[in-house]
Amino acid sequence: MSDPGLDVVAVSAGYGRATVLHDVSISVGEGEIVALLGANGAGKSTLVAAIAGSLPCRSGSVSVGGDDITKLRAERRARRGVVLVPEGRRLFQAMTVAENIEAGSCAGSGRYGRAAVDRLLELFPVLKERWNQQAGLLSGGQQQMLALTRAVAGAPRFLLLDEPSLGLSPLLCEEVFRFIETIAAETGAGVLLVEQMAARALELSSRAYILDGGSIVHAGTSDEIARSDAVATTYLGS
Ligand SMILES: Nc1ncnc2c1ncn2[C@@H]1O[C@H](COP(=O)(O)OP(=O)(O)OP(=O)(O)O)[C@@H](O)[C@H]1O
Ligand SMILES: [Mg+2]
Repeated sequence: MSDPGLDVVAVSAGYGRATVLHDVSISVGEGEIVALLGANGAGKSTLVAAIAGSLPCRSGSVSVGGDDITKLRAERRARRGVVLVPEGRRLFQAMTVAENIEAGSCAGSGRYGRAAVDRLLELFPVLKERWNQQAGLLSGGQQQMLALTRAVAGAPRFLLLDEPSLGLSPLLCEEVFRFIETIAAETGAGVLLVEQMAARALELSSRAYILDGGSIVHAGTSDEIARSDAVATTYLGS
């Protein structure tokens, strides 16, 4: 039986002469939420970029459902269902909410039908109210909702979310976290969640990895990691 998951095996990557990631191995199962934690500069954004293909892997492999996608560019990886929502959202600012969602549904591995997009809009009704407004005119929170909805509209198998709660009010953070849980449960997409709110991320996820200096230093169930001193050590350096 082929492995339906996203498998990252011994990946190294970096910028210029600097190697940032050293032999990183992680996996995400179908419908599973996995947290990726680590201090500033640990390499979290670099890792999701290497998985999504916006940064090439120098060694190691990325496969999805047993198919090696390491050599594919980001757009082709998205077609295989591996979709990154980067930090900073990167929406098409001049396009409307509707056009952004349409673009997302064309870029992914499948196309959500009208009914599925309506279901997504139930989760973020404000997007429906702003359907014909330019993305660039939305508030920060609304732009994040749109970035998530656009990514999901392409029917991803695996979503890589780089700090989706960054800069949002506590109320909006909770809305975003609820969206992530609902998407994982209803669509079966696996989620790799990079999140500064470590305690919250550990509640949402079933498993977690901690990156430090570009290497995985802890891996386990989220309960185990929450009970251990791994998180405190990572963030407080004690
Ligand atoms: N475009 C780049 N060019 C050169 N070095 C980079 C680049 N982007 C990141 N780095 C370096 O790579 C290392 C890892 O950075 P990365 O952004 O992946 O960390 P991070 O865990 O996402 O941090 P943060 O929590 O601040 O988002 C850092 O030392 C950073 O300075
Ligand atoms: Mg980052």
